[in-house]
Amino acid sequence: MEQLRFDGRVAVVTGAGGGLGKAYALLLGSRGAKVVVNDLGSARDGIGKSNFADEVVKEIKAKGGEAVADYNSVVEGEKIIKTALDNYGRIDILINNAGILRDRSFQKMSEQDWDLVHAVHLKGAYKTTQAAWDAFKKQKFGRVVMTSSNAGLIGNFGQANYSAAKMGLVGLASTLAIEGAKYNIKVNTIVPTAASRLTEDILPPDMFQAMKPELIAPVVAYMVHESFEDNGVIIDSTLGFAHKAHLVRSQGVPLRNKPADPVTIESVREKWAEVVNMNGARRIDKITEVTMDLVQSLQDFEDRSKMDSVNPSYWSTY
Ligand code: NAI
Repeated sequence: MEQLRFDGRVAVVTGAGGGLGKAYALLLGSRGAKVVVNDLGSARDGIGKSNFADEVVKEIKAKGGEAVADYNSVVEGEKIIKTALDNYGRIDILINNAGILRDRSFQKMSEQDWDLVHAVHLKGAYKTTQAAWDAFKKQKFGRVVMTSSNAGLIGNFGQANYSAAKMGLVGLASTLAIEGAKYNIKVNTIVPTAASRLTEDILPPDMFQAMKPELIAPVVAYMVHESFEDNGVIIDSTLGFAHKAHLVRSQGVPLRNKPADPVTIESVREKWAEVVNMNGARRIDKITEVTMDLVQSLQDFEDRSKMDSVNPSYWSTY
């Protein structure tokens, strides 16, 4: 099988001093990419600094690859992109991976817990991606991966701050995928589950051993390869599996019987089972589909109401 390579490409991986980011950096470095190994080197809660990006750079170089360390915080993403431009003259790939945890049940969550988690995950991804955007547009090439979490897609006790930021990244990716499309900038989202210091006290030991970041790295590497065509997708990956996830919308139902009728709390209750019935639910790919759907539904609704005034039994068959 032909090997997928990244020769000539420059990749920034944030939070690449350990865990998943390290696995991404090592893999890209082994396939010809020049890698900026960014890591602030903080503790799990975002406090402190150290140079553990150096070890990863050493490892990449020892295997014949090219890499440079960067110790900036992602909240100053422009400095990280500058490291790429200063050292290698370009930026092609950005994996927004840096992350921290400040888990607390919601009542006990401080504003600092909220702000710090949002700063690293959401603002960090915004700042770093925006700093690279102009280069991506000019060269008509860019591959970006955002890192979300099942805690965001599904929710998880004690992670209100983290869940909100992680779902925010999905929204960010969705819009950037649209804005970047005509410049061949693809923005996708990975939802990983892997053994790292973020999960060492959460996953059972056997599972922890099995959930190697190296099983996810090829998925992310494929998602930033020049041959990757999907844009705006969410890929959940762990243990050597990968799944696509997306939101779907139910078919819905009119909440009143005729255009002249009011919508009342009681009519909403009466129709609720149909509102939440997910048979025939579908994915909406473009926001214009929402408007077109609405126009079509209104038209159908008015036509049916007219029919109903001619034949009063018509509506009951709807
Ligand atoms: P990790 O703690 O090993 O890696 C995160 C890295 O980000 C650390 O090396 C840390 O020093 C660095 N970092 C923290 N704040 C930074 C900042 N302001 N600027 C630059 N670097 C910073 O954890 P792991 O598990 O590898 O996490 C990677 C990403 O995957 C995170 O975004 C995390 O939320 C996400 N994730 C991980 C899951 C898992 O099962 N391990 C599950 C779902 C999401």
